[in-house]
Amino acid sequence: MASTTASARRRFLAPVLAALLTLPGAAAALQAQTPAASAADHAAVRARHGMVVSASAIASRVGRDVLRDGGNAVDAAIATAFALAVTYPTAGNIGGGGFMVIRFPDGRATTIDFREKAPLAASPDMFEDSTGAYSAKIHHKSYRSVGVPGTVAGLALAHEKYGSLPWRRLVQPAVTLAADGFDMPPGLARSLAAVLPAMRPYPASVAAYSKNGTPYAVGERFQQPQLARTLARIRDQGRDGFYKGETARLIAEEMRRGGGLITEEDLARYQAKEREPVRGTYRGYEIISMPPPSSGGVALIEMLNILEGYDLKAMGHDSPAYVHTLVEAMRRAFLDRARYLADPDFEQMPLERLTSKAYAAELRKTMLPDKASPSEPAQVAQAYESPQTTHFSVVDGNGMAVSVTYTLEQGYGVKIVVPGAGFLLNNEMGDFNGKPGLTDSTGLIGTTPNLARPEKRMLSSMTPTILAKDGKLVAVVGSPGGRTIINTVLQVILNLVDFDMGIQQAVDAARLHHQWLPDRVDVEANGLPPATVQALEGMGYRVRLGGRQGTAHSIQIDPVTGDRIGAADPRDADAGAAGW
Ligand code: DON
Repeated sequence: MASTTASARRRFLAPVLAALLTLPGAAAALQAQTPAASAADHAAVRARHGMVVSASAIASRVGRDVLRDGGNAVDAAIATAFALAVTYPTAGNIGGGGFMVIRFPDGRATTIDFREKAPLAASPDMFEDSTGAYSAKIHHKSYRSVGVPGTVAGLALAHEKYGSLPWRRLVQPAVTLAADGFDMPPGLARSLAAVLPAMRPYPASVAAYSKNGTPYAVGERFQQPQLARTLARIRDQGRDGFYKGETARLIAEEMRRGGGLITEEDLARYQAKEREPVRGTYRGYEIISMPPPSSGGVALIEMLNILEGYDLKAMGHDSPAYVHTLVEAMRRAFLDRARYLADPDFEQMPLERLTSKAYAAELRKTMLPDKASPSEPAQVAQAYESPQTTHFSVVDGNGMAVSVTYTLEQGYGVKIVVPGAGFLLNNEMGDFNGKPGLTDSTGLIGTTPNLARPEKRMLSSMTPTILAKDGKLVAVVGSPGGRTIINTVLQVILNLVDFDMGIQQAVDAARLHHQWLPDRVDVEANGLPPATVQALEGMGYRVRLGGRQGTAHSIQIDPVTGDRIGAADPRDADAGAAGW
C-alpha cells in the first residue's frame, strides 16, 4: 500500500541540506525545515483509487482505510479530521473550526462553513481592559479569545448531506487512537515540548499533553483517555455529543471558571452552513474555493485574475520581474481584503467586482513595470495571525475531491484543555478586529466590517481549493499559515499551471509572501538567488529572508493515467500521503 512520511523524505534531502551548511544562514534554514529548493517528484505517492494527504501520516492512513472500505472522499475527510484531532493536536481539533470544499465527480461543487462564531455576549469592545485600552492578551490569549467551536457541527453536516458510510465507522478510529494511544512521532514530540511552558497555567492541558509536566519522548505511547470519552460521545450521539449534554456542560463550566463568554446556549445554537463556492478561471483552469467568511478564495481569484495578464513563464520562476509582478498582485488583493471582507451574514461585500476580470484589468493599469508601489501607512493591515492551522486533501476512486483547512487559530489554540473533556479550545476570536477605530502602525485595524458581534464569524484566510479543467479534476490544494495561506495556495497553483511543475515540486518549492502592510516581502530561506533580492531592493522592496511558509498537503491527478499523486509537504515533520 502506497504511503510515505515527510521525515522519510527529509532523510533523503539530508545530504543536500548538509552541503548547504557551509552557506551563511543555512543552519537556520535546516532548523526551520525549509527545503533548500524544490525536490523532484520522486517523493510523491501514487495510487490508483484514492489518496489522503495530511499533516499526520497516521491520520492519512485512517482516511485511506475509509476509502478502501468503500467510503467516499467526504467520509474519508471526516475520519481524517477526527483522527487529526488526536494525532496532530497542534491544529487538528474538535474545539476549533474551518472550511471544507467539495467537488463531485460530475463537476458540481459546494462548501461547508464550520468557522467558529462569537458568543451571544460578544461586543466590538470586548477585548478592552478595565481602563478601556485594547489588550492583545485578552484578544489572543484569554478565555475571551475562544470562539464557539464549529468542527463537530461541520463534519456532521458534511456527513448528513454527502457521507455514505455510518458516522460511527468514521469517528471510531479516532476514539481508538485516543484510548489505546500511538507512538509519539518526532514532530509532535518537539512541538509538545516547546508548547509546555505556555500550557503551565492550565493543569488539564499539562495533564493531557505531558507526563505530569515531563515531555513525552519520541516513540513513547501517548494516550488521551478524556479525549477518547468525548469522541465516544460524539460517535454515539452525533453533534449532540459535543453541543449538548456532558461535553457542553464541561465547556460552559470551564468558561464560567475562567471568565469566558461561551454558554450552553451558545453551543446549542451553533450551526454549520453550506455555502456556494467562490469560482474563477485561470488560463483555462477552473478554480473552486472558499467564499467569506474566509477571505481566501476571493483574494486568490483576484490575484490570479491580475496575473493572467502577464507571461509569468517567460519571466522565469526566480526572476525579479516575476517576484515584482507577484508581490504587486498580493499587495492589491490584501488591501481589498482589509477594506471589505468579513462574515457575509453580517456585511455587504462587492464580491462579484473583486473576482471579475474587468477589475483585475483596472488593477493591472496601476502596476508599474519596474517599481514597487507604496502601501500607504494610513491604510493598515489586519491584526496579527500566527501558526498553527492544518490542511488536508482527499480524492476517492470516483473522483470526488475534498479540500479541508481547519484550525484552532494559533498552535494549540488558546492552550486551554477543557477539564474532563480532554480537548483544546481555539483562540479564533483573535481574528476579529481588536477595537473599533484602533488602527495603528503595528498592523492593528479597527474598521467596521470585521468587528466582533454576537454570533458573527471572524474573517479567515483559509483557502481550501480545488482545480479542474475541461470538466475534469486536476488538483486539491490548501495550506495553513494565517494570511500567508492565500499566497501559498496562489504559488502552488502558479507552479503547476505556469511553471509545469509536478505536485511535489510545486509544494516543495520555496515561497514568498506580501500582505500590503507591513510593506515587506518575506521569502523562505534560500528562496531567491541573491541577484534577484538585490534587484528587488533596487526597485524599492524591503526583502526579509528566513523561516518557512505553510504546509500545503496536496493531490494532483495524473492527466494521462488518472493516478492520484499525493504530495505531503516536507515542512511538516510527521506528514504523510496514503493511497491505495
Ligand atoms: O482563519 C485564519 O485565517 C487563521 N486563524 C488561520 C491561522 C493559521 O493559519 C495559523 N497557521 N499556521
